[in-house]
Amino acid sequence: MRRQEFQCKERAVWEDLLSTVKIGHIAFRRGENLEILPYNFSYLHEHLYFHCSPQTGLAGAVGSPAKFLAYHEVAWIPSTWRHPHLACPATTYFTSLTLSGRLLAVESLKEKAEALEQFMRKYQPDQAYTPLSDKRYHGPLSALFVLKLKVESPVLKRKMGQHLTPQQREKVYDGLRTRALLGDRVVAQAMAESNDESDPQGWVESLNPAQLTNLVKLISKSYWAEGRSLSEQANLNQSSQLLLAKCDSQKLLAFARVTWVTPRVAYLADVIVSPEARGKGLGKALVARVMNHPRLRKTPKVILHTKDAQSFYTQFGFREKHGDENSFMERQLH
Ligand SMILES: CC(C)(COP(=O)(O)OP(=O)(O)OC[C@H]1O[C@@H](n2cnc3c(N)ncnc32)[C@H](O)[C@@H]1OP(=O)(O)O)[C@@H](O)C(=O)NCCC(=O)NCCS
Repeated sequence: MRRQEFQCKERAVWEDLLSTVKIGHIAFRRGENLEILPYNFSYLHEHLYFHCSPQTGLAGAVGSPAKFLAYHEVAWIPSTWRHPHLACPATTYFTSLTLSGRLLAVESLKEKAEALEQFMRKYQPDQAYTPLSDKRYHGPLSALFVLKLKVESPVLKRKMGQHLTPQQREKVYDGLRTRALLGDRVVAQAMAESNDESDPQGWVESLNPAQLTNLVKLISKSYWAEGRSLSEQANLNQSSQLLLAKCDSQKLLAFARVTWVTPRVAYLADVIVSPEARGKGLGKALVARVMNHPRLRKTPKVILHTKDAQSFYTQFGFREKHGDENSFMERQLH
């Protein structure tokens, strides 16, 4: 890789990419021709698995050397974040993984079933289907052509502004935090981490899978989100433009998220502090940080619902609108 600063060796990053990116490209040689094909894939036990009919596409590539590429476009960076007039700084930030190897045919029915089960976990996580180990699948599985590619020495590129000067980085970072789309939060977090600027107090704006699991354990016991599932919370987090959490490594201590209802009205939701961390000022620090976020500072109205924490929010300027059982509060700036 020409720019060494983009190279990433973290296993968690490439495993996450392989389990979330839905389409990979495989290039291989067929006779004199070079072919490249898009394929769905699953990742299991250090191998990528692909399936096709025995007559087509990849089936003709068994035994031949192949290159695999998968990438995830994380955020678009407009030129104006770096220069008021010039077009050249416009770019996208992305994570990509390439690897080389030899495509092998999978013969064992058990391995095929495991690989296909992994496909289903990735492409249909609701698991509303009979497991692939069921004997009714034996016929179709025997007829299906499954190939695998060993994941060896993957080259992982994580282009997230590492090459920028501190002044340029600051501008892009501010742009990302103000725009606050889902990918922007991921990039802002990665920029802070890769440039060794992670918050020493553990404040983050994007959760890793372990932190998300811990959030669900905590929030699913609250009165407003009782029984909320992992995928429900993941969807809510994805659709929120601002997310703030304090973590001690993987442990989640405090969390809040904000969704913009209109450009001028934001909804503050899921404010929670883990029981052992309560009463020490963390809840106050959390809401203060949220309200001071560059994007929220420019939003005239913030609304929320609460059953019993009205006095907690009044210190941040919220006023009760309807004093019913589940109070509606708002803070109006202008
Ligand atoms: C509400 C919550 C986020 C506060 O977090 P915390 O870390 O315990 O709060 P802090 O230690 O920062 O306390 C800040 C102040 O708010 C007060 N406070 C805490 N919880 C309160 C509540 N439920 N109602 C009213 N005031 C509350 C504290 O007494 C303290 O007051 P003080 O500054 O006068 O001493 C936390 O208790 C929590 O997660 N509760 C369960 C989930 C919940 O109810 N979330 C709000 C849903 S809208």
